[in-house]
Amino acid sequence: MTTIVLTILGVLLVWQVVIRLFRKRYHFPAPAFIGRFLDSDIRREMQPPDKLIERSGIKQGMRVLEVGCGSGAFVTSVARVVGKTGKVYALDIQPAMLRQLKVKLTKPENQDIKNIKLILGSAYKLPFEDNSIDLVYMVTVLQETPDKQKALKEAGRVLKPGGVLAVTEFLPDPDYPLKSTTIKIGEEAGFILDKVLGNFWNYTVRFVKQL
Ligand SMILES: C[S@@+](CC[C@H](N)C(=O)[O-])C[C@H]1O[C@@H](n2cnc3c(N)ncnc32)[C@H](O)[C@@H]1O
Repeated sequence: MTTIVLTILGVLLVWQVVIRLFRKRYHFPAPAFIGRFLDSDIRREMQPPDKLIERSGIKQGMRVLEVGCGSGAFVTSVARVVGKTGKVYALDIQPAMLRQLKVKLTKPENQDIKNIKLILGSAYKLPFEDNSIDLVYMVTVLQETPDKQKALKEAGRVLKPGGVLAVTEFLPDPDYPLKSTTIKIGEEAGFILDKVLGNFWNYTVRFVKQL
């Protein structure tokens, strides 16, 4: 048993090192085929949407933007929490990711959801007016954007004063950064640190935009 556990840990460690070295050299968005894993039961076990929602501070009636929504692992749960008086904008740079989300939204169990808008776009140029969004959240996305400051400043532009930016990171992600790195990047972009929630492997750093 110990041998099996050590072998699995060893393989995971080598995989992390190899892929991190590779990604240091080559920047590209997570390939769309991993969308199936991202929106799978295993992922939901490891990173439950209700926990993410609670940590991010998502509440009924909010206008919420997910930057880099991928195949939509969290979008439907968020849409149910913000409810009819709220709205969810699900933005991603890859059409193939948004196609997976579109298919998910056509499933019978999601027919009650009418408050999600899918947007093909970039974190660098959000198609929203200044001060128009209550909360922006990103899950395993920020480190994937080569110009993090540009992405965060753009999030800051569209957020209302006092609005929330919630950045969640998750260790199996080969771009996973330490909490201190995420805090530093957010503060450099002019956000005020509000709360750090979760554990080493799976955490959310919540910032607020200055009033
Ligand atoms: C690792 S996936 C995470 C997807 C989703 N947030 C989740 O946790 O299931 C990262 C996503 O960010 C998107 N992405 C990367 N760079 C982006 C950018 N500059 N603007 C918008 N989306 C981006 C990718 O296309 C991909 O869908």
